[in-house]
Amino acid sequence: MSRGVFITLEGGDGSGKTTQAELLREWLATGGRTVVRTREPGGTEVGVEVREIVLHHRGDIAPRAEALLYAADRAHHVATVVRPALARGEVVIQDRYIDSSVAYQGAGRVLDSEAVRGISEWATEGLLPDLTVLLDLDADAARGRLDEARTRYDRLEAEASEFHDRVRAAYLTLADAEPDRFLVVDAARPVDEIAALIRARVASLL
Ligand code: TYD
Repeated sequence: MSRGVFITLEGGDGSGKTTQAELLREWLATGGRTVVRTREPGGTEVGVEVREIVLHHRGDIAPRAEALLYAADRAHHVATVVRPALARGEVVIQDRYIDSSVAYQGAGRVLDSEAVRGISEWATEGLLPDLTVLLDLDADAARGRLDEARTRYDRLEAEASEFHDRVRAAYLTLADAEPDRFLVVDAARPVDEIAALIRARVASLL
């Protein structure tokens, strides 16, 4: 049986993660791999409820509570979806993971990034991706894409551009610190060029 492979996609809202995840899924499935496509928040039934709170709750949520809600979603998701799939030798392609919490709650909400990471490491018993694809896009370009696609912003998308600038900078710092785990791609490039870069890197993992 093939070894399970855990691939995460990261990047700001509007950077094209979902499109690339789907293209990668199709390519791997054509090559005969069993693929689980999933996401955080909201990759489980419990997670769908957490997602509704973190993205659409009408009042304020204290930043530490928000960080813990994402971590709770992650704990349940890793235990019930991600680890079992990897144990079966499948490829897990996931929109967002721990790096999202470090970037959004750590840098975006200005919490202690190491503490935020620590909570997620506890939640996941230390499970890290084999590969993290960072789709890097400047905040203005991302906002332009979202404006075309959305009539209503969720709680995070509605944050000011300074918030999204901090998120982007944090992602790039994370990628610099772990070049073996990260593939950084300019998300302004054409969709098929990005997909080819991702496939080349994934091929080296299989
Ligand atoms: P996403 O599912 O990418 O949103 P959409 O389906 O609307 O494109 O992500 C939802 C939001 O949650 C996104 O703005 C980033 C945020 N988020 C965090 O702040 N911390 C986290 O740990 C995760 C996983 C997501």
